[in-house]
Amino acid sequence: MSFEINTPPVLRFSAGSVDSIGELLTSIGAARPLVVTDSFLVSTGVADRVADAARAAGLDAAVFGETIPDPTTDSLEAGLAAIRAHSADSIVALGGGSPIDTAKALSVLAVRGGHMRELKAPYRFVGEALPVIAVPTTAGTGSEVTQFTIITDSETNEKMLCAGPGYLPRAAVIDFELTVSMPPRLTADTGIDALTHAIEAYVSKKANPVSDTYALAAITRIGRFLRTAFHDGADRTAREEMMIAATLAGMAFSNASVALVHGMSRPLGAHFHIAHGMANAMLFPEITAFSVEHAVERYATCARTLGVAEASDTDAVAADALVTELRALAAELEVPTPATRGIDRAAWDELVPLMAQQALASGSPANNPRVPTAEQVEQLYAAIYA
Ligand SMILES: [Fe+2]
Repeated sequence: MSFEINTPPVLRFSAGSVDSIGELLTSIGAARPLVVTDSFLVSTGVADRVADAARAAGLDAAVFGETIPDPTTDSLEAGLAAIRAHSADSIVALGGGSPIDTAKALSVLAVRGGHMRELKAPYRFVGEALPVIAVPTTAGTGSEVTQFTIITDSETNEKMLCAGPGYLPRAAVIDFELTVSMPPRLTADTGIDALTHAIEAYVSKKANPVSDTYALAAITRIGRFLRTAFHDGADRTAREEMMIAATLAGMAFSNASVALVHGMSRPLGAHFHIAHGMANAMLFPEITAFSVEHAVERYATCARTLGVAEASDTDAVAADALVTELRALAAELEVPTPATRGIDRAAWDELVPLMAQQALASGSPANNPRVPTAEQVEQLYAAIYA
């Protein structure tokens, strides 16, 4: 057995910990941090709160609030200009997956130069980058602890997976209080994303004993607390447990990779601008049904850990219960289908062959217990449309 675990060296879990970020920045030698975030977090004052916490520690902090959802290669230019204008020596990545992924890409390009297209997986980036402290404001992407960033190529509309330890944040500040105001839709989409990370990491062909431990610890919490967080966002215990789960799931898939659900969901984001977590949620039950026979024991363990099967159930029964639960969860959390989301059938059908090709090219489907052919990927896309 041979495997390697890469995580940020510091993970600070605490309510209100975002206010102590100045001391963390100082500890990594930062003097001129740039807070990379989005316009929403600027408008709510959270970006200034972070910058002020850095200033209180004597640092010269600035804010770049122009990251976009599903960041593109073109969108990185403004961020690089902001880094140069501030002579930033470090980055605070504040937000959901898109701002954090943007920040991680910027941290690499600011030092390395070049274009993200050169860094597309299977290329693995191991070089120097500006130090990043990640502060997630959603409980789902896990980007604060992963060695990946997802950037859409502006020329081809392809969501590129870019990977390697060079993208790992230097620290993550995991403050669940930042998630308490998330609306139910975002809670559902990001929470299902976290569950997808954990289950895909656990059934991945690249799973290892340590990533398994992270994955199962995440699944336990998501089984207990996702529905509560969705229905009662003010439940602090549910919010805190979902935040911990999302980070654990991030550590799991960062070290074991994701699989077919993520491979197929990225094109939905690129072509139809469906939010990442929602795209996963649309695909998750059908793809699990497709995959389950090829790793019955692993899926059965997921089901038991999630709390939807008994120890006494056979693996086959438990694995089927997982598929049933994923369908029930999607229904309860009001996950739309592409059709109910308003996507035109003809536009969908026309793009299915390209989406299938892009899904397979990402490499993620090769980690799935059942590796699909292009035709099978097209059939899965067709099956979830309704
Ligand atoms: Fe994800």
